[in-house]
Amino acid sequence: MQINTGSQYFKKERSLGTPNESRNRRGGAIRIVIAFANSPLIWHRKVLDGKIILCFDGIVFCGGRARNAASMIMLKLGVNIDHVATLREARYRGRGFGEPDPVGAARICEAAGAHGITAHLREDRRHIQDRDIWKLREVVKTRLNLEMANVLEIVGIALKLKPDIVCIVPERRLEVTTEGGLDVIAAEKSLIGTRKKMNDAGIEVSLFIAPDEKQIEASARVGSQFVELHTGQFAEEFHKSEIRNPKSEIELQRLVSGAKQAHALGLKVNAGHGLNYENLPALCRVPHLVELNIGHSIISRAVFVGLEKAVREMLALMKDYRG
Ligand code: PXP
Repeated sequence: MQINTGSQYFKKERSLGTPNESRNRRGGAIRIVIAFANSPLIWHRKVLDGKIILCFDGIVFCGGRARNAASMIMLKLGVNIDHVATLREARYRGRGFGEPDPVGAARICEAAGAHGITAHLREDRRHIQDRDIWKLREVVKTRLNLEMANVLEIVGIALKLKPDIVCIVPERRLEVTTEGGLDVIAAEKSLIGTRKKMNDAGIEVSLFIAPDEKQIEASARVGSQFVELHTGQFAEEFHKSEIRNPKSEIELQRLVSGAKQAHALGLKVNAGHGLNYENLPALCRVPHLVELNIGHSIISRAVFVGLEKAVREMLALMKDYRG
C-alpha cells in the first residue's frame, strides 16, 4: 500500500498508536516500535529520494514528506566555483578560453552530491566571466545561486539569466574576496526594490550579512527569503590558535543567536565564508541552517585529492547536522 502525502502518513501513524522512535544519529534507518496488545511490530523508517518510507519486513508500507520529520533535516552544500575561474584567469585573462573550466567543475560537484552551485559575477569580472554564468545556467541541474552586488548592470543580467536564487553581497574593488557583510540598514530602500524585481521574476533572494541583530531585523523588513550569515569572523578566530580560542566561541555564539533570530523572523538561514574541513564540525552547532556555501577550501583540497572526493568529504562532515 502506498500513501502519498505527509499528512496521510501521519494520520496512518497515529491510527496505529503512538510510535516510539529510537533515533539513529549516524543517519540510516530509524526504528519505530508500535506496541500492540502483545506483539510489538518493528518498523524501519528510511528516507528515499527525499520521501519518508516505512518498511516492515522489507516491504515499503507508506511514504510521506521528509520535511515533516525534525530528525531528517539535511544540511545542503552549495559549492562556490569562483576559485576555479580565478586559476584560469591567472593564466588566460582576456583570452575567452582556458583551463580549468568552472562549468566542468560545476558538473563534477553536482555528480559528487552538491546541492547547488554558487558563482559570483563581480563587476570587475576578476574570475567568473559572463560566458561562464550563461553556460552555468544551461548545465546546472540542482540550484544556481548567483552572488552579486546590488548594482544596475548586474541586476539586469540576473533578471535575464534567472538563477534560482541571488545572494546580494557587498563588493569592494580592493578586497581579495567578499570581506564584510551587507549594510542592509543603509541600503534598505534599494534592496527592497531589487528584492521585489527578483521575486517578480521568480528568483529567490538572500542577503549576505554579519550575524548582527539590527542587520537581521532590516533583512526581514526587506522581505528576502534567506539571509546568508557571514562566517568569516568565526573562521578567522577559529584558526588563530591551536588551543581552544575563546574568541572563536564568542563568534560561534553570535552565529547561533543570529540564526535563531533570523529563523524566528521567518527568514531561512544559510551560512558561508572561510568554512573548511577543520572548522565545519564546530559550525554545525549553529541551528536552523539550510545551506552552506563553501568555495576556497573545497577547491584547494581538490588540488590534492580531486574535486569529486573533496566535495564528498565535505558532504560527509555535514551529514550529521541536526539543526
Ligand atoms: N558566501 C559568500 C556570500 C561569499 O562571498 C563567498 C566567497 O566568495 C563564500 C560564501 C565562500 O567563501 P569561501 O571561498 O571562503 O568558502
